[in-house]
Amino acid sequence: MPDPSRRKVILGLTGGIAAYKAAELTRQMAQNGIEVQVVMTAAACGFITPATMQALSGNPVYTDMWDARVSDNMAHIELSRGRDAIVVAPATADFIAKLVHGLADDLLSTLCLARECPLLVAPAMNRQMWDNPATQRNVSQLKRDGVVVLGPASGDQACGEIGMGRMLEAEEIVQALSAFLAPKLLNGVRALITAGPTFEPIDAVRGITNQSSGKMGYAVACAALEAGARVTLISGPVSLPAPAGAQITRVETAAQMFEAVKRHVAHTDIYIGVAAVADYRVDKPRQHKIKKTDEAQLQLKLVPNPDILGWVAGRPKPPFCVGFAAESRNLDEYADQKRRRKKVQLMVANLAQEAIGADDNEVTMLDDAGMHRLERAPKLVVARQIVAHIARLYSSKKKRKS
Ligand code: CTP
Repeated sequence: MPDPSRRKVILGLTGGIAAYKAAELTRQMAQNGIEVQVVMTAAACGFITPATMQALSGNPVYTDMWDARVSDNMAHIELSRGRDAIVVAPATADFIAKLVHGLADDLLSTLCLARECPLLVAPAMNRQMWDNPATQRNVSQLKRDGVVVLGPASGDQACGEIGMGRMLEAEEIVQALSAFLAPKLLNGVRALITAGPTFEPIDAVRGITNQSSGKMGYAVACAALEAGARVTLISGPVSLPAPAGAQITRVETAAQMFEAVKRHVAHTDIYIGVAAVADYRVDKPRQHKIKKTDEAQLQLKLVPNPDILGWVAGRPKPPFCVGFAAESRNLDEYADQKRRRKKVQLMVANLAQEAIGADDNEVTMLDDAGMHRLERAPKLVVARQIVAHIARLYSSKKKRKS
């Protein structure tokens, strides 16, 4: 299936030491399905070479207003046509001042002035330059003009000082850009998402869990947020930061996850069960640590946990339900059986041994219309495609109802 999140942007580099981060930024943009056309100021070329940026973006780099490669000599207009955004990263104090005043004395500033697409800037400068009232005035004016200002962050600076003015990291810029560009397919829709493993205690210090890292569930939460959904994330024990904008409830056991789901489900339009919920828990976990004995065997009695997804889907007025099936073999067959048994509209299937803990994933989506395979890609890229598919199914279901 084509990646619906594929976007085209101009990445503008101005002359600051943070230009070195633009190399990683370009790489990450490409990984996130964003096609990058790099434009550099003369000062930026003093910090990083056009050759590096060309190799990473896979496109020729433009630095000059009079570049003969643009046939009508209108590089300052042509380059930004058909682009979804211009991102200037790093944006120096000087370049920000030029933007505010509409100056256009080189290719990048002229492109910004002549653009018909949104402009995002990631400031990068020494803390005193950032704190200077002139810069603060300029940044406020830029925001009033509708320019999106990403960061800056606070921390160690190249000059050895510590303070505000560091450019955001590549990953943060890509996340913000992806959220900005994402079609708002789930605008205002309330999504309840479970993620991670559960931990079922045996005694005071031991328990049964599984190898789920929570990465896929958190990626789905991020993708739903990018699509404009209001996300409640119920997370088992993982070491991942909460996705910005999600309302998060952290739980340990399947029973706690079930209680949290019950509390939220009445206000849910779409339920997405990504969590690897333990099917069984220890009957009567011991309050204190079990001591070693001379017995040849120690037996644990396990009792079944509730099937949370099955319960949600079986409600009299269920939300639109999506499950994730982790299988170790017979992927399509088992996942489709699970979809029918649990009565969910969509089941996303992946091979457990390939998906668990990994940063990328390859999944098959199964619905009433059949099977849809998604290519192996970073989990966030896969999550965006899943969310786009959920949005399509959800809106056609809503249309049928009305
Ligand atoms: N699920 C759930 N509650 C459970 C078990 C699973 O809500 N007690 C949900 C998961 O969040 C996932 C889907 O059901 O969305 C499928 O989970 P999976 O573990 O693959 O299926 P099981 O029903 O547990 O079947 P089995 O373990 O036999 O493969």
